[in-house]
Order: sequence, then C-alpha cells, then structure tokens
Amino acid sequence: MFNDKSILVTGGTGSFGKKFIKILLEKYNPKKVIVFSRDELKQFEMSQTYNQHCMRYFIGDVRDEARLKQAMYQVDYVVHAAALKQVPAAEYNPMECIKTNIYGAQNVINASIACGVQKVIALSTDKAANPINLYGATKLASDKLFTAANNLVGNRPTRFSVVRYGNVVGSRGSVVPFFQKLLKDGIKELPVTDARMTRFWLKLEDGVDFVLKNFERMQGGEIFIPKIPSMRIMDLAKAIAPEMPIKIIGIRPGEKLHEIMCPSDIYYETLEFGDHYVIMPSTNLGMDYTHNQLGEKGLPVKDGFEYNSGTNPHFLTVDELKEMN
Ligand SMILES: NC(=O)c1ccc[n+]([C@@H]2O[C@H](COP(=O)([O-])OP(=O)(O)OC[C@H]3O[C@@H](n4cnc5c(N)ncnc54)[C@H](OP(=O)(O)O)[C@@H]3O)[C@@H](O)[C@H]2O)c1
Repeated sequence: MFNDKSILVTGGTGSFGKKFIKILLEKYNPKKVIVFSRDELKQFEMSQTYNQHCMRYFIGDVRDEARLKQAMYQVDYVVHAAALKQVPAAEYNPMECIKTNIYGAQNVINASIACGVQKVIALSTDKAANPINLYGATKLASDKLFTAANNLVGNRPTRFSVVRYGNVVGSRGSVVPFFQKLLKDGIKELPVTDARMTRFWLKLEDGVDFVLKNFERMQGGEIFIPKIPSMRIMDLAKAIAPEMPIKIIGIRPGEKLHEIMCPSDIYYETLEFGDHYVIMPSTNLGMDYTHNQLGEKGLPVKDGFEYNSGTNPHFLTVDELKEMN
C-alpha cells in the first residue's frame, strides 16, 4: 500500500512519528517520506538516523495552511500526529492548544483536499472521549473536524479517518519515564495520585501497526479504536519498583480515575470488529460501516456499551507490565 507512495507525517519528529517512519521504512519502499514539524534541532537529530534517499525534512507549523499546502504537493497519504498534548500546559495556555490542535487540524484538512491527498489519518486520544480537560476537548474538536471533513470533499478523492488510543508505554512526559527518573534521583517513596487509577496501555509499535492497517481499512469518517489491555497504576508501580513504598498524593486537576475510549452515550454509533471498535460519524451520509475495505465485518455493540479502562476485561499482570517497560 505504501510502496512508491509519498507520505507526509505532521509531528514526524515526535515519539509516534519517529516510530511510524522507522516501521514504514522497514516494511515498505515509499517514494517520499516528509517530516513536517517546527523544531530544526529535532529534525537535524532525526536526519542523522533517518537519512534515506526518500526522506525529506520540512520545517513548518500546522497553524500555517500555506506551508502545509507547499509540503503536501503530490503527497498520497498524510498522518496527522502533530499536537500539543500536555494536560497542564493546555490548561495554562488554552489558546495555544486550541490554535495547534483545532485550527491546525482544519489547516491539515484544507491542505489535504486542495492537494488531492488520497487518505488522511489523524491521531486522537482516549482523553477526547467525554473530555474533562482542554487537551481532551481540543482533540474531540479535532476528531469532529476530521470525521466531518469527508462531507467537504465533493467528488475529490480525499478521505479522512481518526485513530484513537490510550497511554503509550514510555512516551515523552508519561508516567514510566517519570517514575524511572524519580528512582534515578534516589527518592524514597513512589508518588501515586490515586490507588484506584487505571489506564489503557499499549506499545508504540502496536499503535503504529494499527494506524498502518487502518489506511487499508478506512472508507472515511471512522474513529478506529484498538482493543488493548488496561493496567492498574498500583501494578505498574510494583512492576517498576517492587520494594518501594507508595505515597498517595491525590488526583490532579484534569485527570480521570479511568479513561474511556467508546462513550456509552453514543453506543448506537459504535461497531465492534474482531480486534477493534469503530465509532461511526454522527453525520453518516448513508455509508455502510459494517463492512470495511478489508472485508472485515462489524456488529453493533449492546445498548449502553462503554469501553472503559476500569471495566476492560483484559488487564495486564505485574509480570506483563515488567516485560513491557
Ligand atoms: N503519547 C501518548 O501517550 C499518546 C496517546 C494517545 C494519543 N496520542 C496522540 O498521538 C499524537 C502524537 O503524539 P506523540 O506522543 O508522538 O507526541 P510528541 O512526542 O510530543 O510529538 C509531537 C510532535 O508534534 C510536533 N508539533 C507540535 N506542535 C506542532 C505544530 N504547531 N506544528 C507542527 N508540528 C508540531 C512536534 O515537533 P515540534 O515541537 O518540533 O514542532 C513533535 O514532532 C498526538 O496527536 C497525541 O495527541 C499520544
């Protein structure tokens, strides 16, 4: 699917972008892979490792539609991974988060349609389901823009879908590197916000594989959600520092005890497939989402179904968590 194609990755220097490009180059022979992001140092460092003939590095900001249009010239597929994603930073600088995550999303849509891009997948997060913080709310707005963008294309070829998943093991600013740094600094107690807390948990390479697969599955308008395990924060603490006493410090503003990927309020828009769920767009223009482009078949979920990290039937054990970290 990606052989001899041009692929642009917004946020290509981030945790997801780098892993996506690594796997893409291992599995396929693309014509061009364009990294689109702001910081020249991150691009320089990445270009030391990823210097294949097909690699291109574009400095640009998703807030700048004209630059996106230059970068997307003759591009076949776009992965939109650029985002501001730190919950406290978004609370403190709300308009900056809105400009990047919402206006940036609309700019990616406009540029993709103008350049005749075939398929676009935007990354989303469980924090966008029933959001309680601004980061989640901007990602929900972004999801809505992307799923509704299929209504703007007329007879042009561009199709837009979304991939939503949960916490990525070891991603920048997340709990595992945070715990590891505290241990290195010689702390005597491990801080945990709330002992009841659970999270969806996946490895970055599994997130990348899921995105790659959904380029083949997508018709346009779907939010694709992988079936992934949950972890209990207390089990994670045990996996990382088995002997360390725990200090409960209280839930932080903008944090939930459990994350949701498929909200119960829209169970009637949700389909279950073998290894994933699909939330259909609320402006479903008569499309049949029960069969995807790979011929897989989805069924409606039960009334009131919710995919919640606290009630997920699949939890990781302490040993499995040890192996993942
Ligand atoms: N990490 C997780 O646990 C997780 C979970 C679920 C979903 N997601 C989603 O997955 C996506 C990728 O996350 P990640 O973990 O790879 O994030 P990351 O490591 O923080 O990378 C973010 C990337 O976006 C770029 N960027 C930020 N603002 C930009 C702008 N205005 N214009 C262009 N590029 C910009 C950054 O580079 P510059 O700063 O150089 O521009 C960087 O390349 C995000 O959409 C996030 O919401 C992440």
